[in-house]
Amino acid sequence: MMQATAIANPNIAFIKYWGNCDPKSRLPANGSISMNLGGLYSRIKVIFSSSLVEDELFMNGVPEAGAALNRVKQHLDRVRQVSGVHLYAHVEGENNFPMGTGIASSASAFAALSLAATHALGLELDLVALSRLARQGSGSACRSVPGGFVEWLVGESDLDSYAVSLAPPEHWGLVDCIAVISREHKTTGSTEGHNLAYTSPLQEARIADAPRRLDICRKAILKRDFGSLAEVAELDSNMMHAVMITSSPRLMYWKPATLAVMEAVQEWRNSGIPVFYTIDAGPNVHVITLENVADDIESNLQGIYGVLEVMRATVGGPVRLIK
Ligand code: DP6
Repeated sequence: MMQATAIANPNIAFIKYWGNCDPKSRLPANGSISMNLGGLYSRIKVIFSSSLVEDELFMNGVPEAGAALNRVKQHLDRVRQVSGVHLYAHVEGENNFPMGTGIASSASAFAALSLAATHALGLELDLVALSRLARQGSGSACRSVPGGFVEWLVGESDLDSYAVSLAPPEHWGLVDCIAVISREHKTTGSTEGHNLAYTSPLQEARIADAPRRLDICRKAILKRDFGSLAEVAELDSNMMHAVMITSSPRLMYWKPATLAVMEAVQEWRNSGIPVFYTIDAGPNVHVITLENVADDIESNLQGIYGVLEVMRATVGGPVRLIK
């Protein structure tokens, strides 16, 4: 049977991807750096079969239609084109974390889909080719292909825009305590958001300064320099949200509780605790800390009004096949 199952972790970016040079093949305006989130995953099973008359998608047991199905179809088309096998597929996906809340479910889903679909059709892509393929499904998915701490090299074309591992998961015991503030599906998804980036007068400045931030971030990770990672990651998150808030139409993802968490994190760091925040396209706050203080941070976050739940992740590995 032409089938395979893969799992991939989502990732959280310290230097963020926001805006494309080429939206069609998702060539980003700037490079980005992230860590994979171990413990959170998407599992995707793909079965190609001559008895199917069209592609079908089930997420957490529920049949999907519309935009979600279309995006998966387009991705399967890419795989069919490379493999030369023109069969429809049955795709089953499952996340162990809520979708559409600024925890990038499209990243883990498209990384796992890329591996499962190519493997099912007998293609053995290396990590670079797999990362390039995943990128076309969802930009940040290219960073969920390699393991640990990852850099997406901006590149100039489809061929050289992919992600590589900077360091394996064991390199540094960072913990992400995700303060969940809303479980609702966000109103403006990342894909639409990327298209608005250049309507902000701040985007050019954000892009121009990206190589400097990437450099600081890369070095901080390699040297395990928490203080300098904290500073550059918060700056980068604030810069992306400044672009979002000043685009037309305006994208305001923060809720009052988002700001409450940001303030608390600042206070904790001022008192000497290793902790910083970073926020994606949603109200939830990723609070990054070290193993030895993660329990305290988690219970302190739970005490903040408006925080519904705290999810915890460690540093995750690469996309992988499972039985
Ligand atoms: C804010 O990768 O979700 O999380 O390519 O349209 O799927 P698409 O966008 P996506 O964008 C991620 C945006 C971000 C920042 C980041 O993860 O770098």
